[in-house]
Amino acid sequence: MTQTTVEAPSKDRAQIPARTLRKDRYWLTPLATFIFFLAWVVYATVRSMMGSSFWVAKYHYLTPFYSPCVSKACPPEAADFGRFVPDHLPFFIPYALISLPFLLGFRLTCYYYRKSYYRAFWLSPQACAVPDKAPVRKTPGGYTGERRFPLILQNAHRYFWVVAGLISIVNTWDAIRAFHGADGGFGIGLGTIILWANVILLWGYTLSCHSCRHVMGGRLKSFSKAPIRYWFWTQISKINTRHGQFALITLVSLAVTDAYVALVAHGAFSDLRIFN
Ligand code: FES
Repeated sequence: MTQTTVEAPSKDRAQIPARTLRKDRYWLTPLATFIFFLAWVVYATVRSMMGSSFWVAKYHYLTPFYSPCVSKACPPEAADFGRFVPDHLPFFIPYALISLPFLLGFRLTCYYYRKSYYRAFWLSPQACAVPDKAPVRKTPGGYTGERRFPLILQNAHRYFWVVAGLISIVNTWDAIRAFHGADGGFGIGLGTIILWANVILLWGYTLSCHSCRHVMGGRLKSFSKAPIRYWFWTQISKINTRHGQFALITLVSLAVTDAYVALVAHGAFSDLRIFN
């Protein structure tokens, strides 16, 4: 019987002159992410600041980019949560200024988005087994991860999650109000369905959050002593595996919902009515 000798791994890293040994098109995903996120940010910024075509009075459709509508410029029927913000603020202050900054903070500090924009915008790193582009990494000891300002602010994610949950309740209220018919009673249109699809996906994104999973089952020493929390943790864990998909699809659903409401409000076409 022959014996095989296994050498202990060297303590030094291999001196490989090539930038990376990867042969696949690893840059494709960061590039696609960069283009998609940039396009979305431009669209959302323009729409949030337009100050028009955000409300369909006949069917009570309010786009999520203006919810809750708290400016004095909002029509009273679109402002269920009060109009307490002056209407002659600079154009770059959105009508939904009490929700949009928190939603931005929620997405920016999300674990999924962190991975995506670190790769796509900072190239730090672009992919596994590809060196960073960020100059700070080239300085020995220069990289502090998320332990110092400004990246330590990423740890505020759990607080943004709480506010995002409250805003999802507001979005749900908007979807309930969208069961509004042309004669003032009950009604359903394509806009109602789009608003509901969007709000269900938003709940999927919010509830599949890692912070939510931790709130449900974190810091427990024994699951058997907390069966209810264990049940919730198990359910959240199931959708948590799809968190990245929820993160992306909600960007699409938000833009589609906003565009639909904007086009109907602008008169580009009529809402497709199913009932009343
Ligand atoms: Fe993505 Fe919390 S980790 S929303």
